[in-house]
Amino acid sequence: MTDAWDFGLELRSDPATTAARTAVLDKPGFGQAFTDHMVVATWSADRGWYDQKVTAYAPLKVSPAAAVLHYAQEIFEGLKAYRHEDGSVWAFRPDRNAARFSSSATRLALPQVPEQDFIAALRALVTVDEAWVPPAGSGETSLYLRPYMIATEAALSVRPAREVLFGVIASPAGAYFDTGPKPISIWLTTSTIRATPGGTGAAKCGSNYAASLAGLAEAVANGCDQVAFVDAVERRWLEEIGSTNLFFVYADGRIVTPELSGSILEGVTRASVLDLAVDLGHTVEERKVSADEWRDGVRSGEISEVFASGTAAVIAPIGRLAWPDGDLTIGDHSINHGVGPVTATLRQSLLDLQYGRVPDTRGWLTRL
Ligand code: COI
Repeated sequence: MTDAWDFGLELRSDPATTAARTAVLDKPGFGQAFTDHMVVATWSADRGWYDQKVTAYAPLKVSPAAAVLHYAQEIFEGLKAYRHEDGSVWAFRPDRNAARFSSSATRLALPQVPEQDFIAALRALVTVDEAWVPPAGSGETSLYLRPYMIATEAALSVRPAREVLFGVIASPAGAYFDTGPKPISIWLTTSTIRATPGGTGAAKCGSNYAASLAGLAEAVANGCDQVAFVDAVERRWLEEIGSTNLFFVYADGRIVTPELSGSILEGVTRASVLDLAVDLGHTVEERKVSADEWRDGVRSGEISEVFASGTAAVIAPIGRLAWPDGDLTIGDHSINHGVGPVTATLRQSLLDLQYGRVPDTRGWLTRL
């Protein structure tokens, strides 16, 4: 193994004043304010990776002919840095993000960033911008880290770019959904498809998210917060919500999530929820789940809770399902804002682990 990237820090920024930073940390929202610095590294087919540095957060200089702007050769990741009670800062399963970044890179014909360099880049940015990691005990706030890779070569031929940029930016984060403690509502679309078999659905590339936006617009036009997609072939098997995976809690205690089909993102939170659910005594199933099973299960009371999972969203309860000719309420909205007990317990277990409030028996946390 070679040594990880060494970030000789090149800091030329005018950092935010303490008052400006405190104002952001008080009410971070999601993805609206960015820290003082960023990581960038350059790759070319001839040289490999070079010029990796932490520098002032600033717009990138990219050619209007850059392949990313025309052919969407781009991937990204999302993970969070959590402040623990003793002041230390930790990432949750960053090795998983590194591995997924690597398989997304393969799918999008982009170069590999070795795990040690990926983690070195996160650590370098968090070290320089540590003051932007929200304090312990400030609710569910964290520093959201967004690694990404874009094809920067100015060339309009359709082929893998020979020049690429890797970067990491960071943004203080609170809740992803702004429904407060209330569950989100989901629009079930069968007319807009997010991903197809053999396509890029399992890769974390911007184009998958672009493909989800018309469905999201349809959801919002129908009074819902988010959209759920079904498979492209039979248009009946549930896949995911544009930015999260989906889970069903059965009244008999089973927890079911759509199996990884090749067109679903393999969520780090999804995988963690499956393990935590077993710890809490649930039986878990990864299998095909149809839209009819969701509707019928809610109507009959067999499905008692539904939730979405993701790094940004954590575990978000779902309280309503609507589609062109129907509308169903999920759960009892007169108790705990409609957040079911299993969803609440799983969410708490995950947060306790991420914030270091319970022992990390699986070694999921990495100190940054
Ligand atoms: C995440 O949960 O980190 C995601 O990548 C979802 C996002 C597109 C907001």
